[in-house]
Amino acid sequence: MPAARRPAASATFEAPPNIALVKYWGVRDPELVLPFNSSVSVTLAGLRSRTTVRFDPGLEEDHVALNGRESSGGPRTAVVRMLDRVRERAGLSDRADVASENNFPTASGLASSASGFAALAGAASAAAGLELSSRELSRLSRLGSGSASRSVFGGFVLWRAGTRADGQDSYARSIFPEDHWPELVDVVALVEHAPEKAVRSAEAMQATVRTSPDYPGRLEGLPSRIERIVGAIRTRDAGRLFPLVMEECDSFRDVCETTRPPLDYLTAASRAILSEVHGLNRASGRPVAAYTHDAGAHVHVFTLRRHVRAVRRAVAAVPGVERTLLVRPGPGARRTDARSTSGRKRARR
Ligand code: DP6
Repeated sequence: MPAARRPAASATFEAPPNIALVKYWGVRDPELVLPFNSSVSVTLAGLRSRTTVRFDPGLEEDHVALNGRESSGGPRTAVVRMLDRVRERAGLSDRADVASENNFPTASGLASSASGFAALAGAASAAAGLELSSRELSRLSRLGSGSASRSVFGGFVLWRAGTRADGQDSYARSIFPEDHWPELVDVVALVEHAPEKAVRSAEAMQATVRTSPDYPGRLEGLPSRIERIVGAIRTRDAGRLFPLVMEECDSFRDVCETTRPPLDYLTAASRAILSEVHGLNRASGRPVAAYTHDAGAHVHVFTLRRHVRAVRRAVAAVPGVERTLLVRPGPGARRTDARSTSGRKRARR
């Protein structure tokens, strides 16, 4: 007689993307995704990946659907690797059904790997019955995509690089909650014809480590820059923060452009936005806005609520800007399905 089949176990997690104010770029251990430098980010409200994982003893193989389409090749392999890690920890052999969707355009380069892997790590570990702390979830998410370690947390987030070879001290934490600085707003400028990433960031950053003559100097200056940026966030000092955020973005762009072959993520419209922000600050006689971008063409422009109309109007008027989104600091990843044990007890809202 075959053993009674275990029921399928499922869980759903939502996780937001984040935008780095201090960039993660370069790893000392690619297998464990251990970075050379610590990084700082803002978790973005209103945008999210939602992922459901169902381990099912009846499945022959893992099925992965991203935004409603069965996925294959590299993206599927990365998901299966995460499932394998979770299965190994939980002592589970069941294959899984994974369904993930974003409420923002995936190809838009709005950090879908960060939100996607944080949501996947959360859903897979919960469905496998692992009760991970946020810190453990951050470490697990990191293995899928470095920046995902930060999407576990809300508000302003610091991912400490750590020094241990096993990566146990390389995880993120929230340094200020999402309501720490209600005046701060991110005007996200989505540009037309943003190219899809030709090379995964994980590979591109290692080309920078190997070939950019400016990389060692960047690393050397980062601890002090991080301290100044965290200090300016702590005291909600836009006059100090905004120039530092642009200095950091320029340093990131410089090491990309001095990589051989060069890494160029921006379009003409992205570059025009950077000039526009400098123009706005010059015209105001003080820093009223700061640009930053990741390994993609869209540009995040931070400003304060009292300047947001003027800044948004100026950014939206740049030729090649398709549309702008207003985004605030938001909460981190969370489980969104009712758990079988407590679901029924949950009070109606
Ligand atoms: C420029 O964590 O997205 O956005 O492993 O390829 O998914 P993958 O790398 P990822 O790299 C992020 C690089 C960055 C800076 C940052 O978010 O800190």
